[in-house]
Amino acid sequence: MPANSEPLGLRPIALTGFMGVGKSAVGRRLAGLLDYEFVDTDKWVEALAGKSIPHIFEDWGEAEFRRLETQVLRDAVAVSDRVISTGGGLPLRPENRAVLEECTAVVLLTAAPGTILKRVQPLERRPLLVGHADPLERIRSLLQERREAYNHFHLRIDTTGGSPVRTAAHVAEWYRSLPKEQDNGEG
Ligand code: S3P
Repeated sequence: MPANSEPLGLRPIALTGFMGVGKSAVGRRLAGLLDYEFVDTDKWVEALAGKSIPHIFEDWGEAEFRRLETQVLRDAVAVSDRVISTGGGLPLRPENRAVLEECTAVVLLTAAPGTILKRVQPLERRPLLVGHADPLERIRSLLQERREAYNHFHLRIDTTGGSPVRTAAHVAEWYRSLPKEQDNGEG
């Protein structure tokens, strides 16, 4: 994947972060504010696979899901006027992080573990959380494991006490303020 030479303000926006931080809810509203297309890598993977994420995990395993996710990301970043909501585990692969950082304006959304647990119900649709005796502890330990993966972004917003409307407005304001011309080093 070649580095994107586009200035940040002309790149697609990627909303990333753990499950339940509000990527899809914020992303849809943000796309509306900017008149951008909204795409969700999870939905795209499901369309490509012809089955739901729980079924992909069950039938083909997580590794195949991750492979499809990487394939979809490459296509997703090819269009500029787009808001991309990524699956929560997409930044785990260093190659995906490189694509995000080089080709998109990366917005990391975060939330407190207890808030995440409330938002991710029903757990049956979350193959990485379902079947764990203590889902809150599972969320905490995944967040801990993923600290490095979630440490790459251009903007970070905690959505714990916020609403998707307010968060989307915040991101839109930030994005509109970003450079839209190449910095040629002359000053
Ligand atoms: C995952 C998050 C999910 C989905 C899959 C794996 C993860 O996406 O991609 O269940 O590894 O955190 P959302 O964050 O959109 O729920």
